[in-house]
Amino acid sequence: MYNQPMLREDALKDKTIVVTGGGTGLGRAMGLYFLQLGANLVITSRKAEVLEQSAKEMEAATGGKVLPVPCDVRNYEEVDHMLSETLKNFGRADVLLNNAAGNFISPTERLSANAFSSIIDIVLKGSANCALAFGKHWIKEKQAASILNIVTTYAFTGSAYVVPSACAKGGVLAMTRSLAAEWGKYGIRSNAIAPGPFPTKGAWERLLPGDLAEKFDFKNRVPLKRVGDHQELANLAAFLVSDFAGYINGEVITIDGGEWLQGAGQFNGLEAVPDEMWDMLEQMTRSAKGS
Ligand code: HXC
Ligand code: NAP
Repeated sequence: MYNQPMLREDALKDKTIVVTGGGTGLGRAMGLYFLQLGANLVITSRKAEVLEQSAKEMEAATGGKVLPVPCDVRNYEEVDHMLSETLKNFGRADVLLNNAAGNFISPTERLSANAFSSIIDIVLKGSANCALAFGKHWIKEKQAASILNIVTTYAFTGSAYVVPSACAKGGVLAMTRSLAAEWGKYGIRSNAIAPGPFPTKGAWERLLPGDLAEKFDFKNRVPLKRVGDHQELANLAAFLVSDFAGYINGEVITIDGGEWLQGAGQFNGLEAVPDEMWDMLEQMTRSAKGS
């Protein structure tokens, strides 16, 4: 069931949704589902050719309207231009989905200052630039709207070897909650999704290069013993940006099959104990009563 569409067909009818990083990976998967639910879509990232090709394919697959707008989210002027193009083509913007990101694995001491900043600039500054431009517009127009930010579970816990990304995603989570409190009065909802592993080319090439994908198979870290299906993320995102989620504001929803908690509980590793050993272990723990 989890790979099936969930919402009713008109759930996003007449909404214009802007997805940053919307030409590839998870952004594209969420965008495709928004189109199926009746939304107009704007996809934006740095690579014009990728956007144009994706827009064509997405329109052909759904019959919906997709506007590709090249925009580097690190640059506020480009973000402002992307908003103007959205308004020019669709007359309105209802949802901002901050999904664009940059990331790669590295021991932190190997990073240059510029390497650290480039991740912070894409993820934190890029999301802030988009929230600012769209928020100013919505407040001026007195329009209710919604922001959805894609973070990750290490936004709560931190993570070794992806420190700039962890810092940036932690910042985006703080922005999500802060704006929920501050802009709620304007009817602007602000929420986040923290996905666990959902294989994409962009993430896997940078996070699990070469044979790391086999050696460090994410499935083994997840209690449900599988990675995420793109449609189940799309289902959650579509619900959160729809009016059905109209009272959800300031929330972060984890969708990771229990992965981060599996890493957190001190005794979760006891999963490795074979069934036949539990009789002996029980005897030993029971006998400790008298000591
Ligand atoms: C060390 C590196 C490096 C590496 C780049 N740099 N790659 N340093 N190890 N592997 C350094 C460069 O030398 C440079 O520093 C600085 O970082 C900027 O690099 P550029 O290539 O000039 O930057 P740019 O062209 O802007 O590309 C940004 C990028 C790239 C992040 C490096 O990978 C990119 O475009 N990524 C976009 C897509 C992406 O990352 N998708 C994955 C998201 S996955 P110097 O000092 O030399 O100038 C994700 C998942 C989270 O977030 C959770 C999963 C479970
Ligand atoms: P992806 O396909 O590499 O997506 C990243 C997108 O961001 C690309 O379309 C890229 O396009 C765009 N982008 C990068 N820098 C940009 C910039 N400066 N300005 C505008 N756009 C930019 O990887 P993904 O796996 O789908 O990731 C999507 C989101 O999910 C990210 O926020 C990621 O952190 C999050 N996430 C993914 C996973 C996972 O398992 N896949 C897990 C947790 C969280 P251009 O190169 O054309 O700019």
